[in-house]
Amino acid sequence: MNSVSSAPFWRRNDLETDRSWIQPLEQAAVDDLRRALEHALTTRKPLLQMSKSDFPIREDGQRALSKVLAATQGGYGIALVRGVPIAGLAEDEARVLFWGIGLHLGVARPQGKNSQFMSDVRAEGGEYRSPTGRGYNTNASLDFHSDAADIVALLCLRDAKTGGESLVTSSIAARNEMMQARPDLVEVLYRPFVYSRQGEQAPEEAPYFEMPIFGERNGHFACRHVRNHINGAQASFSEVPRLTPTQTQALEFFDATLARDDLCFRMYLQPGDIQFLNNHVVLHSRTGFEDHEEPERRRHLLRLWLAIPQAQALPESWSVFFKDSEPFAVRGGHRGQQISPEMEAYEQRLAREHGMALRIYEDRQVGRPLRQEATGSA
Ligand SMILES: [Fe+2]
Repeated sequence: MNSVSSAPFWRRNDLETDRSWIQPLEQAAVDDLRRALEHALTTRKPLLQMSKSDFPIREDGQRALSKVLAATQGGYGIALVRGVPIAGLAEDEARVLFWGIGLHLGVARPQGKNSQFMSDVRAEGGEYRSPTGRGYNTNASLDFHSDAADIVALLCLRDAKTGGESLVTSSIAARNEMMQARPDLVEVLYRPFVYSRQGEQAPEEAPYFEMPIFGERNGHFACRHVRNHINGAQASFSEVPRLTPTQTQALEFFDATLARDDLCFRMYLQPGDIQFLNNHVVLHSRTGFEDHEEPERRRHLLRLWLAIPQAQALPESWSVFFKDSEPFAVRGGHRGQQISPEMEAYEQRLAREHGMALRIYEDRQVGRPLRQEATGSA
């Protein structure tokens, strides 16, 4: 525990002075994506039935995707691709374009109660702070958090009238800063916290689970932090142990560190941008926003969660949530309550195409009720 991580980290100033993580698409790559989209549209396949070959990206486009992988896995853990050719596309065509890019990077993961493999990030009346609250369907200001997959990708179709600024902080840098000031509180974050599944659990999953916020494996630091779901477990389940004053202090100290001006980088996503984040080493947030009056002008982003073959091994204690902590594995996501045979076939096909293991079905008991875990029974 507490060894120096081999993963990269940064402070705000690093992202300001070194812009290599911003990757405008070259014309040849744009042309590749347009051709791939044209082909995909002629197949008329539903998204879940597509394979990589249904969205044939040539060399220049592939090179752009390789840069994304390098930036998210070996660089700062963040890539901002600009100039994705969405202008003039119908919304469904933009979905195919985004999905096609995702097919080449990894295996999309389900994202909530409806087991959706692509989410619409827009204000649809959700309540972030409610017991079933999530952030993506609200216009609320969000806590710093990580999403439930190796990579989160956000394609911006339309931005807000005001607000909706995107905030990112290196969780490694925040941990290192905290280590200087309060190593005792860092220790606390290496121990388990109880998270609510916000009422979105799959039939075989318990409504809550426990896992540590910080962990390390094979020399790689990893952080998963979703305070809203820790608060959800406190509010919804009386049998869950109450947070100790020290745990609360550790969470507050960490959240304050993440928001520090010298650590946090702020940006606005523009239409045609895709922001890619490595959730294991970067935490994100968003400021609240105000939409335009006209429905067709309101802020709208598409979101993919991806398991990718290049991602690091995860702490073994995270298997309760990710279902698999090994590298080269399909893992993560919120399986939700609508997983269909078509979705399972998609996962199996794409796992094969990427040479990744798919063990998430091997043990339906993973994610079993906390009280059974506590007694050690299977
Ligand atoms: Fe998020």
